[in-house]
Amino acid sequence: MSFTVRKGEIFSFLGPNGAGKSTVINILTTLLPIQKGSVKIAGYDLKKEPEMVRESIGIVFQELTLDRDMTVREILEYHGRLYSMPKAARQKRIDELLDLVELEGKRDTLTRHLSGGMKRRLEIARGLMTRPKVLFMDEPTIGLDPQTRIRIWDYVKDINQQGTTIFLTTHYMDEADQFSDNISIVDHGKIIVTGKSLELKNALGEDIIYLETSDNRAASELLKSLKSVKGIREKSKGIVVMVNVDGTYLLPEMMDKLRSEGITIRAVNLKKPSMDDVFVHYTGKELRDSGTEKSSVVSLRAGRR
Ligand SMILES: Nc1ncnc2c1ncn2[C@@H]1O[C@H](COP(=O)(O)OP(=O)(O)OP(=O)(O)O)[C@@H](O)[C@H]1O
Ligand SMILES: [Mg+2]
Repeated sequence: MSFTVRKGEIFSFLGPNGAGKSTVINILTTLLPIQKGSVKIAGYDLKKEPEMVRESIGIVFQELTLDRDMTVREILEYHGRLYSMPKAARQKRIDELLDLVELEGKRDTLTRHLSGGMKRRLEIARGLMTRPKVLFMDEPTIGLDPQTRIRIWDYVKDINQQGTTIFLTTHYMDEADQFSDNISIVDHGKIIVTGKSLELKNALGEDIIYLETSDNRAASELLKSLKSVKGIREKSKGIVVMVNVDGTYLLPEMMDKLRSEGITIRAVNLKKPSMDDVFVHYTGKELRDSGTEKSSVVSLRAGRR
Protein backbone atom coordinates (compact mmCIF):
# COMPACT_ATOMS: atom_id res chain seq x y z
CA MET A 1 0.00 0.00 0.00
CA SER A 2 1.12 3.50 -0.79
CA PHE A 3 -0.79 6.52 0.40
CA THR A 4 -0.53 10.05 1.71
CA VAL A 5 -2.68 11.74 4.33
CA ARG A 6 -2.47 15.52 4.24
CA LYS A 7 -1.96 17.53 7.41
CA GLY A 8 -5.26 18.58 8.95
CA GLU A 9 -7.51 16.27 6.98
CA ILE A 10 -9.91 13.54 7.99
CA PHE A 11 -8.92 10.46 6.05
CA SER A 12 -10.94 7.23 6.03
CA PHE A 13 -10.11 3.64 5.28
CA LEU A 14 -13.16 1.70 4.15
CA GLY A 15 -12.97 -2.01 3.53
CA PRO A 16 -14.61 -5.35 4.21
CA ASN A 17 -13.75 -7.49 7.25
CA GLY A 18 -10.22 -8.77 7.04
CA ALA A 19 -9.17 -6.24 4.38
CA GLY A 20 -6.16 -5.19 6.47
CA LYS A 21 -7.31 -1.88 7.96
CA SER A 22 -6.40 -2.62 11.56
CA THR A 23 -3.13 -4.19 10.47
CA VAL A 24 -2.17 -0.94 8.73
CA ILE A 25 -3.17 1.07 11.80
CA ASN A 26 -1.12 -1.25 14.00
CA ILE A 27 1.92 -0.70 11.78
CA LEU A 28 1.43 3.06 11.67
CA THR A 29 1.12 3.23 15.46
CA THR A 30 4.31 1.17 15.99
CA LEU A 31 2.45 -1.85 17.42
CA LEU A 32 3.51 -4.09 14.55
CA PRO A 33 6.97 -3.92 12.94
CA ILE A 34 7.32 -2.80 9.33
CA GLN A 35 8.84 -5.57 7.27
CA LYS A 36 9.17 -3.66 4.00
CA GLY A 37 8.80 -0.10 2.85
CA SER A 38 8.87 3.17 4.74
CA VAL A 39 6.46 5.42 6.61
CA LYS A 40 6.63 9.03 7.72
CA ILE A 41 4.25 10.37 10.32
CA ALA A 42 4.25 14.01 11.40
CA GLY A 43 7.66 14.32 9.78
CA TYR A 44 9.21 11.39 11.67
CA ASP A 45 10.48 8.16 10.16
CA LEU A 46 8.58 5.27 11.67
CA LYS A 47 11.56 2.90 11.61
CA LYS A 48 14.22 5.30 12.86
CA GLU A 49 12.23 7.47 15.27
CA PRO A 50 9.39 5.34 16.68
CA GLU A 51 9.40 7.23 20.01
CA MET A 52 8.85 10.55 18.22
CA VAL A 53 6.03 8.98 16.22
CA ARG A 54 4.44 7.67 19.42
CA GLU A 55 4.66 11.11 20.95
CA SER A 56 2.80 12.59 17.99
CA ILE A 57 -0.10 10.16 17.83
CA GLY A 58 -3.19 9.06 19.70
CA ILE A 59 -5.25 5.94 19.12
CA VAL A 60 -8.73 4.59 19.72
CA PHE A 61 -8.50 0.82 19.31
CA GLN A 62 -11.06 -1.35 17.59
CA GLU A 63 -10.98 -3.82 20.44
CA LEU A 64 -11.81 -2.96 24.02
CA THR A 65 -8.58 -2.49 25.93
CA LEU A 66 -9.79 -1.03 29.23
CA ASP A 67 -8.39 -2.34 32.48
CA ARG A 68 -11.35 -4.01 34.20
CA ASP A 69 -10.17 -3.11 37.68
CA MET A 70 -9.85 0.62 37.16
CA THR A 71 -12.55 3.21 37.50
CA VAL A 72 -13.64 5.45 34.67
CA ARG A 73 -11.77 8.42 36.15
CA GLU A 74 -8.63 6.38 36.83
CA ILE A 75 -8.46 5.24 33.20
CA LEU A 76 -8.39 8.83 31.97
CA GLU A 77 -6.18 10.05 34.80
CA TYR A 78 -3.61 7.33 34.17
CA HIS A 79 -3.54 8.04 30.46
CA GLY A 80 -3.05 11.76 31.05
CA ARG A 81 -0.14 11.01 33.40
CA LEU A 82 1.49 8.68 30.88
CA TYR A 83 1.51 11.59 28.48
CA SER A 84 2.83 13.96 31.18
CA MET A 85 -0.19 16.23 31.12
CA PRO A 86 -0.06 18.78 33.95
CA LYS A 87 -2.55 18.14 36.76
CA ALA A 88 -4.83 21.11 36.07
CA ALA A 89 -5.05 20.30 32.35
CA ARG A 90 -5.78 16.67 33.22
CA GLN A 91 -8.66 17.54 35.53
CA LYS A 92 -10.13 19.97 33.03
CA ARG A 93 -9.93 17.51 30.13
CA ILE A 94 -11.38 14.66 32.22
CA ASP A 95 -14.40 16.77 33.19
CA GLU A 96 -14.88 17.89 29.60
CA LEU A 97 -14.64 14.35 28.22
CA LEU A 98 -16.86 12.72 30.85
CA ASP A 99 -19.44 15.31 29.94
CA LEU A 100 -18.99 14.62 26.22
CA VAL A 101 -19.45 10.86 26.51
CA GLU A 102 -22.02 11.23 29.29
CA LEU A 103 -20.16 9.16 31.85
CA GLU A 104 -20.15 11.88 34.51
CA GLY A 105 -22.36 9.71 36.73
CA LYS A 106 -20.02 6.72 36.33
CA ARG A 107 -16.84 8.56 37.29
CA ASP A 108 -16.03 6.16 40.14
CA THR A 109 -17.46 2.99 38.61
CA LEU A 110 -15.13 0.10 37.73
CA THR A 111 -14.99 -0.33 33.96
CA ARG A 112 -16.06 -3.98 34.27
CA HIS A 113 -19.45 -2.73 35.41
CA LEU A 114 -20.04 -0.52 32.37
CA SER A 115 -22.32 -1.51 29.50
CA GLY A 116 -20.75 -2.25 26.12
CA GLY A 117 -21.64 1.18 24.74
CA MET A 118 -20.31 2.92 27.85
CA LYS A 119 -16.98 1.09 27.51
CA ARG A 120 -16.81 2.15 23.89
CA ARG A 121 -17.44 5.75 24.92
CA LEU A 122 -14.72 5.57 27.53
CA GLU A 123 -12.26 4.17 24.96
CA ILE A 124 -13.00 7.18 22.78
CA ALA A 125 -12.64 9.60 25.69
CA ARG A 126 -9.23 8.11 26.45
CA GLY A 127 -8.16 8.57 22.83
CA LEU A 128 -9.16 12.22 23.11
CA MET A 129 -7.33 12.90 26.39
CA THR A 130 -4.24 14.25 24.69
CA ARG A 131 -4.24 16.48 21.62
CA PRO A 132 -2.07 14.42 19.29
CA LYS A 133 -0.95 15.65 15.88
CA VAL A 134 -2.48 12.54 14.36
CA LEU A 135 -5.36 10.65 15.91
CA PHE A 136 -5.96 7.08 14.71
CA MET A 137 -9.48 5.79 15.25
CA ASP A 138 -10.18 2.17 14.37
CA GLU A 139 -13.96 1.88 14.08
CA PRO A 140 -14.46 4.22 17.01
CA THR A 141 -18.23 4.45 16.91
CA ILE A 142 -19.06 0.79 16.34
CA GLY A 143 -22.13 -0.26 18.28
CA LEU A 144 -22.99 3.23 19.52
CA ASP A 145 -26.47 4.72 19.28
CA PRO A 146 -27.02 7.53 16.75
CA GLN A 147 -27.21 10.29 19.41
CA THR A 148 -23.82 9.34 20.79
CA ARG A 149 -22.31 9.06 17.32
CA ILE A 150 -23.49 12.58 16.46
CA ARG A 151 -22.06 14.03 19.69
CA ILE A 152 -18.75 12.30 19.25
CA TRP A 153 -18.49 13.39 15.66
CA ASP A 154 -19.18 17.01 16.59
CA TYR A 155 -16.30 16.80 19.03
CA VAL A 156 -13.96 15.03 16.61
CA LYS A 157 -14.69 17.64 13.92
CA ASP A 158 -13.91 20.28 16.50
CA ILE A 159 -10.49 18.88 17.41
CA ASN A 160 -9.83 18.35 13.71
CA GLN A 161 -10.51 22.03 13.13
CA GLN A 162 -8.05 22.81 15.91
CA GLY A 163 -5.39 21.00 13.89
CA THR A 164 -5.49 17.26 14.66
CA THR A 165 -5.24 15.06 11.59
CA ILE A 166 -7.67 12.13 11.80
CA PHE A 167 -7.07 8.67 10.35
CA LEU A 168 -10.24 6.66 10.58
CA THR A 169 -11.55 3.24 9.72
CA THR A 170 -15.26 2.68 9.77
CA HIS A 171 -18.01 0.42 8.52
CA TYR A 172 -20.51 3.26 8.73
CA MET A 173 -20.62 4.52 5.17
CA ASP A 174 -22.47 7.67 6.21
CA GLU A 175 -19.63 8.64 8.58
CA ALA A 176 -17.01 8.24 5.91
CA ASP A 177 -19.23 10.05 3.43
CA GLN A 178 -20.05 13.04 5.63
CA PHE A 179 -16.86 13.63 7.53
CA SER A 180 -13.89 12.52 5.45
CA ASP A 181 -11.90 14.79 3.20
CA ASN A 182 -10.56 11.71 1.46
CA ILE A 183 -11.50 8.05 1.42
CA SER A 184 -9.49 4.99 0.41
CA ILE A 185 -11.30 1.76 -0.24
CA VAL A 186 -9.10 -1.19 0.70
CA ASP A 187 -9.52 -4.89 0.11
CA HIS A 188 -7.18 -7.90 0.31
CA GLY A 189 -4.40 -5.68 1.68
CA LYS A 190 -4.46 -3.27 -1.26
CA ILE A 191 -5.85 0.18 -1.91
CA ILE A 192 -8.41 -0.12 -4.68
CA VAL A 193 -9.43 3.50 -5.09
CA THR A 194 -8.94 6.86 -3.35
CA GLY A 195 -10.92 10.06 -3.66
CA LYS A 196 -13.38 12.49 -2.17
CA SER A 197 -16.78 10.96 -1.52
CA LEU A 198 -18.49 12.95 -4.28
CA GLU A 199 -15.78 12.01 -6.79
CA LEU A 200 -16.13 8.34 -5.91
CA LYS A 201 -19.90 8.47 -6.23
CA ASN A 202 -19.82 10.38 -9.50
CA ALA A 203 -17.19 8.04 -10.92
CA LEU A 204 -19.63 5.15 -10.69
CA GLY A 205 -21.71 6.90 -13.34
CA GLU A 206 -24.86 5.20 -12.21
CA ASP A 207 -27.24 8.07 -11.56
CA ILE A 208 -30.90 7.13 -11.69
CA ILE A 209 -33.59 9.53 -12.87
CA TYR A 210 -37.30 8.97 -12.29
CA LEU A 211 -39.82 10.82 -14.46
CA GLU A 212 -43.58 10.95 -14.57
CA THR A 213 -44.88 12.54 -17.76
CA SER A 214 -48.08 13.04 -19.76
CA ASP A 215 -46.85 10.33 -22.21
CA ASN A 216 -44.36 7.93 -20.66
CA ARG A 217 -44.12 5.71 -23.73
CA ALA A 218 -43.17 8.66 -25.99
CA ALA A 219 -40.80 10.03 -23.35
CA SER A 220 -39.09 6.68 -23.14
CA GLU A 221 -38.63 6.51 -26.94
CA LEU A 222 -37.18 10.02 -27.05
CA LEU A 223 -34.71 9.51 -24.21
CA LYS A 224 -33.46 6.16 -25.53
CA SER A 225 -31.71 8.04 -28.34
CA LEU A 226 -29.49 10.00 -25.89
CA LYS A 227 -26.03 8.50 -25.70
CA SER A 228 -25.68 9.03 -21.95
CA VAL A 229 -28.79 6.93 -21.30
CA LYS A 230 -27.80 3.36 -20.42
CA GLY A 231 -31.27 1.94 -20.00
CA ILE A 232 -34.91 2.72 -19.31
CA ARG A 233 -37.46 0.78 -17.28
CA GLU A 234 -41.18 1.52 -17.39
CA LYS A 235 -43.04 1.65 -14.08
CA SER A 236 -46.78 1.86 -13.50
CA LYS A 237 -46.85 5.66 -13.36
CA GLY A 238 -43.49 6.75 -14.74
CA ILE A 239 -40.14 5.72 -16.17
CA VAL A 240 -36.77 5.01 -14.55
CA VAL A 241 -33.78 6.18 -16.58
CA MET A 242 -30.26 4.93 -15.84
CA VAL A 243 -27.60 7.37 -17.04
CA ASN A 244 -23.81 7.18 -17.15
CA VAL A 245 -23.06 10.87 -16.63
CA ASP A 246 -23.69 13.32 -13.79
CA GLY A 247 -27.50 13.41 -13.64
CA THR A 248 -27.50 16.83 -12.01
CA TYR A 249 -26.65 18.35 -15.40
CA LEU A 250 -28.33 15.85 -17.69
CA LEU A 251 -31.74 16.11 -16.05
CA PRO A 252 -32.51 19.72 -17.15
CA GLU A 253 -31.42 18.80 -20.68
CA MET A 254 -33.75 15.82 -20.69
CA MET A 255 -36.61 17.96 -19.42
CA ASP A 256 -36.07 20.56 -22.18
CA LYS A 257 -36.07 17.84 -24.80
CA LEU A 258 -39.31 16.30 -23.55
CA ARG A 259 -41.05 19.67 -23.28
CA SER A 260 -39.97 20.67 -26.79
CA GLU A 261 -41.85 17.57 -28.02
CA GLY A 262 -44.96 18.67 -26.20
CA ILE A 263 -44.60 16.22 -23.29
CA THR A 264 -45.59 17.60 -19.87
CA ILE A 265 -43.45 16.59 -16.87
CA ARG A 266 -45.37 15.85 -13.67
CA ALA A 267 -42.64 14.64 -11.36
CA VAL A 268 -38.87 14.14 -11.29
CA ASN A 269 -36.44 12.52 -8.90
CA LEU A 270 -32.68 12.09 -9.11
CA LYS A 271 -30.85 9.43 -7.16
CA LYS A 272 -27.08 9.47 -7.01
CA PRO A 273 -25.15 6.37 -5.97
CA SER A 274 -24.63 6.16 -2.21
CA MET A 275 -21.36 5.34 -0.46
CA ASP A 276 -22.84 1.84 0.00
CA ASP A 277 -23.09 1.53 -3.79
CA VAL A 278 -19.49 2.69 -4.20
CA PHE A 279 -18.30 0.22 -1.55
CA VAL A 280 -20.09 -2.76 -3.07
CA HIS A 281 -19.00 -1.74 -6.57
CA TYR A 282 -15.33 -1.91 -5.61
CA THR A 283 -15.33 -4.78 -3.15
CA GLY A 284 -17.99 -7.11 -4.56
CA LYS A 285 -20.74 -8.85 -2.72
CA GLU A 286 -19.16 -11.95 -1.18
CA LEU A 287 -18.97 -12.20 2.61
CA ARG A 288 -15.58 -11.95 4.27
CA ASP A 289 -13.92 -13.68 7.14
CA SER A 290 -16.24 -16.64 7.39
CA GLY A 291 -13.60 -17.99 9.80
CA THR A 292 -14.59 -15.36 12.34
CA GLU A 293 -18.25 -16.33 12.01
CA LYS A 294 -17.42 -19.96 12.73
CA SER A 295 -15.37 -19.21 15.81
CA SER A 296 -18.16 -17.07 17.26
CA VAL A 297 -20.62 -19.96 16.84
CA VAL A 298 -18.24 -22.18 18.75
CA SER A 299 -17.98 -19.74 21.65
CA LEU A 300 -21.78 -19.44 21.73
CA ARG A 301 -22.09 -23.18 22.14
CA ALA A 302 -19.46 -23.26 24.83
CA GLY A 303 -21.39 -20.56 26.66
CA ARG A 304 -24.61 -22.56 26.69
CA ARG A 305 -23.14 -25.55 28.43
N1 LIG B 1 -2.55 -11.44 14.95
C1 LIG B 1 -2.82 -11.94 13.74
N2 LIG B 1 -2.22 -13.08 13.33
C2 LIG B 1 -2.48 -13.59 12.11
N3 LIG B 1 -3.33 -13.05 11.23
C3 LIG B 1 -3.96 -11.92 11.59
C4 LIG B 1 -3.75 -11.31 12.85
N4 LIG B 1 -4.53 -10.20 12.94
C5 LIG B 1 -5.18 -10.13 11.77
N5 LIG B 1 -4.85 -11.15 10.95
C6 LIG B 1 -5.35 -11.40 9.59
O1 LIG B 1 -4.95 -10.31 8.76
C7 LIG B 1 -5.98 -9.96 7.86
C8 LIG B 1 -6.31 -8.51 8.04
O2 LIG B 1 -6.89 -8.29 9.32
P1 LIG B 1 -7.27 -6.86 9.89
O3 LIG B 1 -7.58 -7.03 11.33
O4 LIG B 1 -6.23 -5.87 9.51
O5 LIG B 1 -8.60 -6.57 9.06
P2 LIG B 1 -9.60 -5.34 9.14
O6 LIG B 1 -9.62 -4.72 7.79
O7 LIG B 1 -9.27 -4.46 10.28
O8 LIG B 1 -11.00 -6.08 9.38
P3 LIG B 1 -12.28 -5.68 10.28
O9 LIG B 1 -13.11 -4.76 9.42
O10 LIG B 1 -12.97 -6.98 10.49
O11 LIG B 1 -11.78 -5.04 11.53
C9 LIG B 1 -7.15 -10.92 8.15
O12 LIG B 1 -7.10 -11.96 7.21
C10 LIG B 1 -6.86 -11.41 9.54
O13 LIG B 1 -7.40 -12.71 9.73
MG1 LIG C 1 -10.19 -3.95 11.99
